[in-house]
Amino acid sequence: MTEQSETQQRPALVVDFGAQYAQLIARRVREAGVYSEIVPHTATAAEIAEKNPVAIILSGGPSSVYEEGAPRLDPAVFDLGVPTLGICYGFQYMAQTLGGEVANTGLREYGATDAVISGDGGTLLGGQPAAQNVWMSHGDQVAKAPEGFDVLATTDATKVAAFANEERGFYGVQWHPEVKHSDHGQQVLENFLHKGAGLASDWNSDNVIAEQVERIREQVGDARVISALSGGVDSAVSTALVHKAIGDQLTAVFVDHGLLRKGEREQVEKDYVESTGVRLITVDAADVFLGHLQGVTDPEEKRKIIGREFIRAFEKVQLDLVAEAKASGGAPVKFLVQGTLYPDVVESGGGAGTANIKSHHNVGGLPDDLDFELIEPLRALFKDEVRAIGRELGIPEAIVGRQPFPGPGLGIRIIGEVTQDRLEILREADAIAREELTKAGLDQDIWQCPVVLLADVRSVGVQGDGRTYGHPIVLRPVSSEDAMTADWTRLPYDVLSKISNRITNGVRDVNRVVLDVTSKPPGTIEWE
Ligand code: XMP
Repeated sequence: MTEQSETQQRPALVVDFGAQYAQLIARRVREAGVYSEIVPHTATAAEIAEKNPVAIILSGGPSSVYEEGAPRLDPAVFDLGVPTLGICYGFQYMAQTLGGEVANTGLREYGATDAVISGDGGTLLGGQPAAQNVWMSHGDQVAKAPEGFDVLATTDATKVAAFANEERGFYGVQWHPEVKHSDHGQQVLENFLHKGAGLASDWNSDNVIAEQVERIREQVGDARVISALSGGVDSAVSTALVHKAIGDQLTAVFVDHGLLRKGEREQVEKDYVESTGVRLITVDAADVFLGHLQGVTDPEEKRKIIGREFIRAFEKVQLDLVAEAKASGGAPVKFLVQGTLYPDVVESGGGAGTANIKSHHNVGGLPDDLDFELIEPLRALFKDEVRAIGRELGIPEAIVGRQPFPGPGLGIRIIGEVTQDRLEILREADAIAREELTKAGLDQDIWQCPVVLLADVRSVGVQGDGRTYGHPIVLRPVSSEDAMTADWTRLPYDVLSKISNRITNGVRDVNRVVLDVTSKPPGTIEWE
């Protein structure tokens, strides 16, 4: 992989033919206990061979294999002697390249489809029910399997819905085994990996921790390291992992920008520190942030101010630590921890060029000694793996299981100017909503639930004998796999009712609670 390649394990490679299927496949492969990496379909056979893959999976994609400009893969990949599974477009590509036939018969299949297994189903489908419901999304069909291949399944519209050449270790399915709607999807992937490719389940959090600890020690030597804690999962886990490796050579910095939710600062300062033993410096910058946000209502401007001030506050501590290390003649501060995850690496095209950053990229005039090397111990990991590692490291569930929370915090959940008074109102309402959702056992069903204060809107209400003229609170519960798209979560009415009653009765200046029932797109998850 890249220079910073994160693990010694040989990967199962997922070849990306487009349309975001590859990440989900890579995650499912990891769930099967096999380390996976994603490569673009433009990788040459030599580049793929260099990664020494234990298996190859060709992903789905939106094109037709015989279309001009359709994504191709170097056909020499099929001569590498590596067990290969084709999925959807990857299945068709495999069929076409190895001498089969792909045609557009006008019979399309989208969504839930009945598949019937032929014979004993071979390695891939053996032991599964003869009739099963699978998730399809294709216009073209494999009309004829390549020579030497057995047909393993059919559907009404497709004579060749799965095939295998056991001798060469080649397999393919027309449906999407990686999506939960395919009845035995995960088993198809596991049969391929464990039986077809003969791979053991040896990718787990224990191994990742041990390997990273060793790497970090090697990278850091006796230098000192700084890490910024945001209260979120990624920074909490990356910091704890680095701490496990090098102990007090690490200093964690937590900038309290005053835009946090109720109890978050205490959670970091007390629970996190207690459970990890990390040495922590908290910067109390709430007044500075609020000062700069005074009179600002434009969302982009708010984001810019918060981002800029965050860097300023963090840099000040960095400078102090660097100066302190110099004055005391101690080891130099050379590294910065970042909680970069694998999806960020994939989306930025493999992450080349991120090995060295200047932390003062946004602020001019700071000395050159703030030139850090990055430590990114989560670069190979997906979010669920990060959570598993966090649990293994003993980080409290309240932090590890936390839903995503934006860096600019409550600053972008107050529609209108951000003031201390409004922050207090929103904090109370948000705490009530979170408490009730947790109590109702709904945390796993929700990706996140922003609670938004419409500070510039007032509506008339009645409370006791009196007229009120207060603000609405918006509940925005969403379900999502990756925050790129989302749907509003259908929360039970009694839970909504409880939240609404508690907020309107208990939070001053709020006399109305409304529910946001917009998917993404068209609405974003956050309101600003
Ligand atoms: P949107 O509102 O764009 O949000 O649908 C997608 C996801 O990103 C989170 N988000 C942010 N996270 N800094 C962050 O660290 C930000 O500035 C930011 N803005 C949005 C949001 O909570 C959701 O999970």
